Amino acid sequence: MTTLGTPLSPSATRVMLLGSGELGKEVLIALQRLGVETIAVDRYENAPGQQVAHHARTITMSDPEQLKALIEAEKPQLVVPEIEAIATPMLQQLEEAGVVRVIPTARAARLTMDREGIRRLAAETLGVPTSPYKFCDSLAELQAAIDGANGEAIGYPCIVKPVMSSSGKGQSKIDGPADVQKAWDYAMAGGRVSHGRVIVEGFIDFDYEITLLTVRALDASGAVQTHFCDPIGHVQVSGDYVESWQPHPMSPVALQKAQGIARAVTSDLGGQGLFGVELFVKGEQVWFSEVSPRPHDTGMVTMATQWQNEFELHARAILGLPVDTSLKSPGASAVVYGGVDAKGIAFDGVAHALAVPGVDVRLFGKPESFVKRRMGVALAHAADVDTARRNAKEAASRVKPRQA
Ligand SMILES: Nc1ncnc2c1ncn2[C@@H]1O[C@H](COP(=O)(O)OP(=O)(O)OP(=O)(O)O)[C@@H](O)[C@H]1O
Ligand SMILES: [Mg+2]
Repeated sequence: MTTLGTPLSPSATRVMLLGSGELGKEVLIALQRLGVETIAVDRYENAPGQQVAHHARTITMSDPEQLKALIEAEKPQLVVPEIEAIATPMLQQLEEAGVVRVIPTARAARLTMDREGIRRLAAETLGVPTSPYKFCDSLAELQAAIDGANGEAIGYPCIVKPVMSSSGKGQSKIDGPADVQKAWDYAMAGGRVSHGRVIVEGFIDFDYEITLLTVRALDASGAVQTHFCDPIGHVQVSGDYVESWQPHPMSPVALQKAQGIARAVTSDLGGQGLFGVELFVKGEQVWFSEVSPRPHDTGMVTMATQWQNEFELHARAILGLPVDTSLKSPGASAVVYGGVDAKGIAFDGVAHALAVPGVDVRLFGKPESFVKRRMGVALAHAADVDTARRNAKEAASRVKPRQA
């Protein structure tokens, strides 16, 4: 699709985002800059991306009938999932029927929608190194998996996660037998859907973890080429990202292994677009953790560090345009949390934050704040990553959300 149209005219190139949070908002802005007509879909009104798109629609995206009706009514050329909780089997049906093209593919959206599809693909089909793991449907099965009642023991410490959850929800570490019941109950309360399936993973004592942004884009001959961004380092607290930086230094051997894993997984998922491949690294050992077939939250740092940020890369790749993943400057990002449970909050201290050298601030415009909801991000570029991290964190701490 290298011919682009004029929005709001019969020639328009129409793209629908399923999920219009802060990441979708930036993808929409990148598409808008190319004159693409955009339809921003979310489960609630005035989601961040809906505020910058041509059209805003609010539906329950996990409901197959609502999803089908909307796609058939709007007739986008491309459907771009931005979240996991979507009726992906319906996307597969619509893609197979030739109604729409799903980014990167409907199969990739389905396989990455829960932890089981992608983990089994990576570990069992592709033979990529991962933590040891088992899927369990009850407390008894969880205990048996840890103890090795039916095969190899996962042992302690280990991590329990609902198969359907993100941002660390329902996820906890088990250090010994006393924690098992608590971890099971926590997973049951934190999953996205009520059926009680979890993954238990052996704990990887990594030196650091990275996101390797990997782009599948067309070259001049129309063939898909794989491009890698510089590794992004990040810190997670309770399974949620709090700061990230780029580039993260890696030994040549570890980098080569990381790129090999990312290439294997993304080639199998196929299609065009940007992927966030999450990897654990210890010395020269690399483990695959998971992958998002879309921009990644830790990749927000690329708004400060790359000539084409991850959202622009995604927009270009899905439209069949060439990409450039090169670094512009070292940099960092730090999350601004809501800190309050309230609607229509105010942000003090933005000017003070922007007084930090090399800093930029993004406020997402979410209509409602929660104490632990991500409401904005501070970005910093600097001559080195340490300075950028310090400045990003300083700027984030100067932004003071409060009840209006
Ligand atoms: N097996 C493991 N060993 C050690 N640490 C782990 C393991 N699994 C997860 N973690 C830690 O927990 C974090 C979150 O895990 P994971 O990415 O699986 O959850 P998530 O809910 O999908 O998070 P997000 O949506 O933010 O990516 C990881 O980035 C890592 O820091
Ligand atoms: Mg993750």
